[in-house]
Amino acid sequence: MEKSKTTEPLNDFLERVAFQKLKKMLFENVGLNCDGYRDEYLKRRFDVRLKATGSQTYGRYAMYLKKNPAEYQLFLNDLTINYTMFMRDMEVYLYLEKKLLPKLFASNPVRIWSAGCATGEEPYSLAILVHKILGDTAVNHQVSIFATDIDKDALAKAAKGEYQKKQLSGLSDMMIDKYFTKEGEKYRVRDFVRSIIRFDQHDLMKEPLRKSLDLILCRNVMIYFAKESQQLIHMNFYNALREDGYFITGKAEMLSGEPSRKFVSIDIRNRVYQKTKQANAAVQVGIIQPTVQSQLAFKRA
Ligand SMILES: C[S@@+](CC[C@H](N)C(=O)[O-])C[C@H]1O[C@@H](n2cnc3c(N)ncnc32)[C@H](O)[C@@H]1O
Repeated sequence: MEKSKTTEPLNDFLERVAFQKLKKMLFENVGLNCDGYRDEYLKRRFDVRLKATGSQTYGRYAMYLKKNPAEYQLFLNDLTINYTMFMRDMEVYLYLEKKLLPKLFASNPVRIWSAGCATGEEPYSLAILVHKILGDTAVNHQVSIFATDIDKDALAKAAKGEYQKKQLSGLSDMMIDKYFTKEGEKYRVRDFVRSIIRFDQHDLMKEPLRKSLDLILCRNVMIYFAKESQQLIHMNFYNALREDGYFITGKAEMLSGEPSRKFVSIDIRNRVYQKTKQANAAVQVGIIQPTVQSQLAFKRA
């Protein structure tokens, strides 16, 4: 039989098989759908744990996982990079404060989803803005912020709402005094801020927990996901929004495929998009091109 000219070295083949096996083990043991993540990203995260466990190869790491099931959680902790901060990308929060939230507060109730909220800084920043804008009239408004993440440990920290002073660098001293209480070395989010937030564990690869939302923020999360998964998740967001609802991505993130045709970009710099029926219909029948549509919507906003 003729031998293939490009025969893969045996070790590479075994590693490729072991990589697929690791993905399967993670799905079967902790329900993680690895196919949603970019392979290069997963490999980088596996390599960190390979070093930490002295495993050297994916095959050995699979054996290590079998003998040490606690390693699953350590891998998950490593997979989900929780870096975040209060008022991350201040320009986006200024846009929210000056333009978007006041517009949303014209209706009542208002439902916001912070998807991939890590240790809570994003939903708490939003809740602080809600109180800053509404002031004493906050009692007349029903505002709910749903905050979700796949990472249980990060969520537990978020629900606690306790931070070190250095973690509050995005907030002014006045804000810290008003919205936090100092308890020893820690700063704790005041109850009236926390009371409008609900934390839940949720994997973005699954159906959204809520519908008819007014605003969804999913920032700095998609970088880990393969393009097809990003499109699927963005379409889930589209369907979870009410008509005319808004969606904000991270500054380094882009929409592609179907979501890029369905959503209207209303502020390119701050990555703010809107679900609008008329514009969508106009694009579908070819009256306007998506780019023109974006400019029209931008003028409207
Ligand atoms: C870098 S943090 C972003 C936090 C915040 N949105 C921000 O912009 O500062 C990314 C978060 O995405 C979460 N994440 C990763 N994969 C996820 C998934 N499949 N479902 C839900 N959250 C996920 C991680 O656990 C992590 O907390």
